[in-house]
Amino acid sequence: MVWTSRPVSRLHGVLRAPGDKSCSHRALIMGGIAHGTSHFTGLLEGDDVLRTGAAMQALGATVTRTGAGQWEVTGTGARGLTSPAAALDFGNSGTGSRLMMGLMAGYALTAELCGDASLSARPMNRILTPLRQMGLTDTAEPHGRLPFRLTGSAALQAITYAPPQASAQIKSAVMLAGLNAHGTTIVEEAKPTRDHTERMLRGFGAEVGVSRGAGQVRTISLLGGQKLSAIEAAIPGDPSSAAFLIAAGLISPDGNVLVEGVMSNPTRSGFYDLAELMGARLGAEDTGDAAGERLIDIQSGSASLIGRNVPERLVPSMIDEFPILGVLAAFATGETVVTGAEELRVKETDRVKAVVDMLRANGVEAEEREDGFVVQGCGGPPPGGGLVETRHDHRIAMSALIMGTASQKPVSVDDISMIDTSYPEFLAHMATLGADISEGAS
Ligand code: S3P
Repeated sequence: MVWTSRPVSRLHGVLRAPGDKSCSHRALIMGGIAHGTSHFTGLLEGDDVLRTGAAMQALGATVTRTGAGQWEVTGTGARGLTSPAAALDFGNSGTGSRLMMGLMAGYALTAELCGDASLSARPMNRILTPLRQMGLTDTAEPHGRLPFRLTGSAALQAITYAPPQASAQIKSAVMLAGLNAHGTTIVEEAKPTRDHTERMLRGFGAEVGVSRGAGQVRTISLLGGQKLSAIEAAIPGDPSSAAFLIAAGLISPDGNVLVEGVMSNPTRSGFYDLAELMGARLGAEDTGDAAGERLIDIQSGSASLIGRNVPERLVPSMIDEFPILGVLAAFATGETVVTGAEELRVKETDRVKAVVDMLRANGVEAEEREDGFVVQGCGGPPPGGGLVETRHDHRIAMSALIMGTASQKPVSVDDISMIDTSYPEFLAHMATLGADISEGAS
């Protein structure tokens, strides 16, 4: 169903960021194997996260919603996880499916895994390769795509692994398998990625070693057989979801947007650092912490943006923000160049292609590079007027709708249903700010 975002003269408002998707998955996963009952507030109730909760329930944990964003999880503790009665359907979720593969690898169980068309096209050998080295068996060969069957083992062997891609999902899958392996599992990251697994494992009482070597290399070590103990935690706000609101404030002719309770973590802050390099002045005020993460309120207002070469060191810490960066680049003066971001090719869709097509459909000059893209900024509102093909990608849909709030003509998208995977309140939040987004063509 086509939806359209029409240009509006102002966007003002105060909003609370939805719960962080990465932390919400991890809370349900770790709570589900811990000893005792954990309580979470502010959990993201997007489809991706709900499917991880359903999978943990099917594997033996008790996962109960007790109120809006409030969840109670009784872990399997010493009993461990058991084979589910039916296939585990991870929907659109790369994070849920990949982290759960790592977790299940360490238990004597067999499970069928499946997902939607987008997830079934994404590479899983990057996860299965280290897990096979530890003792997992699976039926994914040779293509490494869902659906397939996994058989875990209670006798996994720890490994030392240097992921070939900068990926928190690979790191986390290996660490979750390592939790139930014999020996010390070590992950060597050439480029640091989001560190929520490390932080949350510590929160649940595990000892996790983290050391820095030459250059950016981070070494993470985890002794197998450690017990997790239930926690009470508030899930911090998602900086990746907040980025859409902050961008809306920046491109609006009269923007004043305050987003409260956003997680401030250097492994997630690349978009904000880059927006400032492009000329945005973002207000940020410390407001405490939640679940071992710092929280800030972030404010944005109308800005004259300048195109930049995105420093490659920022890429892992803004890996989900490239679609909305593409929108900022369209409004900026001058050229924005993204390199070293080949991982975008294997996200919910090929995001290099999807971003370039989104911009071109709206009169913006943009071109693909093997490992990124180049955008010629319009030095103000881009023409708009296009219909964007979202290809089951929630972040392409949200980015296009944000672009429509301030482009010369409305911007339409072919589908909005998948926005629910990560940000179910997106349309309500945009309406609060004063956006004009509704069903139908322009
Ligand atoms: C995530 C890691 C990232 C990110 C995804 C969430 C996580 O994927 O794109 O949305 O929670 O670990 P990669 O680790 O594959 O880059």
